[in-house]
Amino acid sequence: MLIAQISDCHIRSGPSPFDGLVDSSETLRQVVSHLLNNRRKPDVILATGDLTESGTKEEYASLIDLLSPLNLPVLPIPGNHDECPQFKNSLKRYLPEDLPETHCSYVNEDYPIRLIGLDTSLVGRHDGDFDDERFEWLEKKLLQASEAPTVIFTHFPPFSSGIHFMDVSGLRNSERFCSLVEKNPQIKLVISGHLHRPIATTIGTTAASVCPSTSHQLGLELDPAHGSLVNEPPSYQLHRWDGLRFTTHTAMVWEGKTFDLSSWIKEVDKQSSDETGFPKK
Ligand SMILES: [Fe+2]
Ligand SMILES: [Fe+2]
Repeated sequence: MLIAQISDCHIRSGPSPFDGLVDSSETLRQVVSHLLNNRRKPDVILATGDLTESGTKEEYASLIDLLSPLNLPVLPIPGNHDECPQFKNSLKRYLPEDLPETHCSYVNEDYPIRLIGLDTSLVGRHDGDFDDERFEWLEKKLLQASEAPTVIFTHFPPFSSGIHFMDVSGLRNSERFCSLVEKNPQIKLVISGHLHRPIATTIGTTAASVCPSTSHQLGLELDPAHGSLVNEPPSYQLHRWDGLRFTTHTAMVWEGKTFDLSSWIKEVDKQSSDETGFPKK
């Protein structure tokens, strides 16, 4: 199974201080086109929050427009820049009908891997919370299929990254989330966004990662007194399940040069079945 992840699209309808840095609609257009040009299409696209800048109806309408060429299932979850009530309303076509009253978490069982979208965003706030209600919701959902290989997709990373100002303003009760993951080794991968950088770690035996943004990235700055936004290339990730583990690839979308290796690969395939293997010539 191949899962694509897009995150932090920050689609905006009005002027923004970031206008000089990046046009987030244009970069999402480039990401969509890159995804469409992949020879191996993903089975599903998980969109891990901050899909718009301010959570307005107009911004969600632009987002839907930009995603429409994909013609693939998209499962979205809100971030701190979205607003849950408008998110539910505007993105109805992508969401199940039986959502909880106060958050936008859900389970999708259409694929060989069970997909759990966990919404820890709070209306009117930029921090998130794995509060009692969400803890109980997730614990119950995990119990319902405790043997099924599972991915949790969410906006706030449940671990500290070393990017100080994001860590202190991120997810409350993240230790509680990690303890629950450690008790449920059927969770093979926890993927998130919010940090606008590719980041990888582990929670117990579970891989955990952050997907870069389709728009602007956070500068790689681990000095707690500093931080920046940078126009590193718009990016997305592909998470490939081989029946045993996930392998995550980061795709950076930029105008680079390509040197085609297809004819050389034919030779590699031929040699791989020879006893001689791969001696240097
Ligand atoms: Fe973001
Ligand atoms: Fe965020």
